Parts: sequence; structure tokens; C-alpha cells
Amino acid sequence: MARTKKPEVKTETLEILDLAAASEASPKVRKPMSDEAKAKISESLRRRKTILSEAVEAINDTPRLKADPKLAVLDGKTVTLNGYFKMEAGTFEIAKHNIEFGVSTMLIGATGTGKTEVVANLAKVFDLPLTIFDMGTMTDPIMGLVGNHVISVEDGVTKSEFKRSRFSEVIQKPGIVLLDEISRAGAMANNLLFPCLDFRRELPMEYSFHDTTPVKIHPNCVFFSTANMGSQYTGTHKLDRALLDRFMLIEVDSIKTKDIEATLKSEFPTVPADKIKKLVSVFTQINKEHEEFKISFNLSLRHLKTITKLVSNGFTIYDGFVVLCKGLGSQEGLKSITSILDEAKV
Ligand SMILES: Nc1ncnc2c1ncn2[C@@H]1O[C@H](COP(=O)(O)OP(=O)(O)O)[C@@H](O)[C@H]1O
Ligand SMILES: [Mg+2]
Repeated sequence: MARTKKPEVKTETLEILDLAAASEASPKVRKPMSDEAKAKISESLRRRKTILSEAVEAINDTPRLKADPKLAVLDGKTVTLNGYFKMEAGTFEIAKHNIEFGVSTMLIGATGTGKTEVVANLAKVFDLPLTIFDMGTMTDPIMGLVGNHVISVEDGVTKSEFKRSRFSEVIQKPGIVLLDEISRAGAMANNLLFPCLDFRRELPMEYSFHDTTPVKIHPNCVFFSTANMGSQYTGTHKLDRALLDRFMLIEVDSIKTKDIEATLKSEFPTVPADKIKKLVSVFTQINKEHEEFKISFNLSLRHLKTITKLVSNGFTIYDGFVVLCKGLGSQEGLKSITSILDEAKV
């Protein structure tokens, strides 16, 4: 005996009769829908349903991407990727999940926190090809994302050919596609990316004169993007809302002092440990004074690596910091820097 009656499942039909009935119900307000309009709605609904079921099918039929556990080593709350890149364990777990399940991810954080490099390291851990598109310098999104017309003359005959973009090629294969610095992309690029990033998973090719069939995105092609955020950069509110909705946002924090030391040591093995300690301590002090509004700029890990490179090539720590900071700040800031350096006795 059945204990409970099964709830009645209402199946949604894609027929437009209801719409037509609705328009007839209030004839004074609405005109009856034309056959052409009905056909258009019906076609668009049918297409939406087909795309959606195709996308679900493709995902179900595709083997899931797998990380190589040897390349991601957990130690306490930190994971080391590829033997050098430190990352917070929780953030790694989410990024890993998102790659496995094809969830588009946006990494946000100040410049130099390792957003671009973390994606490069994740690609290695998953043994996936990585293609980076620098959205900040993509001046023509149609050319960069879709392609362009190439005119050539062969035997005196002029030919126009549509050359597809690298983007349209890589999205058809398994891999990671990084839309770097997406916060600097324009509205046109966003509009082309929307259908790539939502349930449609396809790149519109309307700009091609030849084959305008949209390009289907491979189920194992995973999108990452990075955006510089924080007081000195674009706030999330400045990013297109529709674009934000298509990504899972993950904040990337700067790495801890002890991890910075470990990173510098492995990257610059010729620099002695005491020098590395001093470099990191001056770096930390400068950033602390920046937070206290004493120095107008702050230093990123990228800056610190540049200075360490100078030191590894025989320059003094003092000169390294002064040269770099001179280019970044005012004379006023430089005074604070030299006093930090004097105190550290470098
Ligand atoms: N967690 C980290 N471990 C090792 N190196 C890091 C880490 N985070 C940043 N870096 C280094 O800092 C520099 C800037 O990283 P990058 O990915 O270019 O930053 P972003 O894209 O956030 O501006 C690179 O040289 C990178 O190697
Ligand atoms: Mg970057």
C-alpha cells in the first residue's frame, strides 16, 4: 500500500498556446500575437531547451578532470603546488572542485597577490593546457575573441577569408582559459563572453560572414578570470553585474611572511638565508607603514622578487629597495624607506 500519494508532477510544455490565450483574455490591452511572433518565441524556447539538455548531456558524458595529488602537498593549512607555490588549503579545495566540475571562477585581490600564477599552477596540477588572454590589452574584442577578416590576393583575385581567433580554437578543447584582468575589459568583450559563461556555453560567431554557427565550448574547458580589487583598484560594483553573476568569486590573500621566505629561498637559492630574512623584514615594514598612511605606496611580492633578483646578482639590499621605491613614490616616501633600511642595517 502506498503510504503517500506522489505529488503530481507538472511538466512544462513549450507550447505558446497559453501566451496566445493570455493575449486574447485582455483584448483591449493587448493585440493578439502575430503568427510570426509566436513562431519566434516557440523557436527560441525550443533552442534554449535543446542547448540546455545538450550541455547537461555533454557534462555527464565527459570524464571528470583529475588533480595529480603529488603536485599539491598539504602541510597544515597551506598547500604547496608544484613544489613552490603556497596557497591557503581551503582556497585550493574550492579551486580544485571548480575545475573538476567546470565552475567558472573569478579570483579577486590586490595586484601581486599571485592570482595569475595560481591559475598557472592549478593548470600544471591538473596537467591541463593553459591559455591566458590579457583582457586589459585586448583592444578589439571581436578580433581577439571571435576572429577577423583577412583579405588576400591570389592570382589577381581578391579573396576575403574569416580567420577564427585563438580563443575560439582553445575553447573547443579541454584546458584552462584564463581571462586575465577581466576588470579592465570593455562592454563588447563582456557581451561576447556572456553566452560562453552561462548555460549556453557557446561563442557567438555572428561577426563571421562565412559560418555563423556558434562555437560549442568543450565540457572540460574551464574558465578562470582575475580582477584587481581593493581600495586602489576597481571595486566589484564597477564590474558588470551580469559578468559577476557568471563566476564564483574567490578572494586571494597575500601569502604569509614565512611562506614568502620559503618562496624566495626556493627561487633564489644563491641568496643566503640571513639576507632573505632581511629582505622580507624590510618588505613587511614598508607595507606596514603604508597601512599606517606613512608611505604612499605598498610593495607586492613581484616587487620583492625583483629586488631579490638584484641582490642575487650582487647589488646590496639597500640599493635594491631604494632604486625600486624611487620609481614608485615621492621623495617624502623615500625618507621613510631609507630610515627603515638604516634600522635593518642592510
Ligand atoms: N603564494 C605564492 N607563492 C609563491 N609566489 C607567489 C605567491 N603569490 C604571488 N607570488 C609571486 O608574486 C608575483 C606576482 O604574482 P602574480 O600572479 O603576477 O600576481 P597578480 O596576478 O595577482 O597580480 C609572481 O612573481 C609570483 O610568483
Ligand atoms: Mg595578474
